[in-house]
Amino acid sequence: EAVEYGLDAPFEVEYHDSIPSTNARARDLAAAGAEDVVVLADEQTGGRGRLDREWSSPSGGVWLSILFRPDVPMAQAPAFTLAASVAAARAAREVGVDAGIKWPNDVLVESDGDERKLVGILTEMEGEADRASWIIVGIGVNANVDPEDLPAEANPTSLSAELGDPVDRRVFTQRLLELFEELRRDPETAVAEWREYATTLGKRVRVETPDGVVEGEAVAVEFPGGLVVDTGDERVTVSAGDCDHLR
Ligand code: BTN
Repeated sequence: EAVEYGLDAPFEVEYHDSIPSTNARARDLAAAGAEDVVVLADEQTGGRGRLDREWSSPSGGVWLSILFRPDVPMAQAPAFTLAASVAAARAAREVGVDAGIKWPNDVLVESDGDERKLVGILTEMEGEADRASWIIVGIGVNANVDPEDLPAEANPTSLSAELGDPVDRRVFTQRLLELFEELRRDPETAVAEWREYATTLGKRVRVETPDGVVEGEAVAVEFPGGLVVDTGDERVTVSAGDCDHLR
């Protein structure tokens, strides 16, 4: 089903029925000097996930990328990813889906100890260390899609599968963008809400970081998004990596 978006969003919105990747389109717009634009698509034919994985994006999802130029050092970019995951989890909760966040930025639905993925976030940026030139936050929400049509290895779910009915994507997307806009300007609230939604805190985790594997208990999250892991010997803050929950 195609959608008439007509969003009243805090960003200019460029809508596509079908596009290879909204993040790739936002990168082209960034290179052309644009800012405060959202690229939104009903379907992506070449969606990308973290670690250069493919991101399956059939018609019915909410696939969008937000391009903006905040006056912050590159090291603070993870704060925007965190704001996006909180916005997505809250928007999902507002439509009745009890979503949680797995560090750093997967939005999941837990049931019977099983964690199914609802939303993925891919942030890209360019600039100098002391000032980002642009940041693109790509958000992929499995909205009105059948999880059977998504790759099983991602253990996916969707809003429509959780609710038994499709959601109004216009209303959902508008709320998501409003919440992101609010939270990106208020990192303290974003971190506090992240803690409230976190499924990672208190669990034993195994994090594959660029510098090696860290295993222990996840005890805290720190601005702008680092996870503090108690390994038994010491507390290590990891700022990036792939995280597995061990119990
Ligand atoms: C992940 O691996 O969990 C991140 C997935 C990010 C997917 C979104 S969908 C909109 C935007 N465009 C892309 O090609 N990827 C992101």
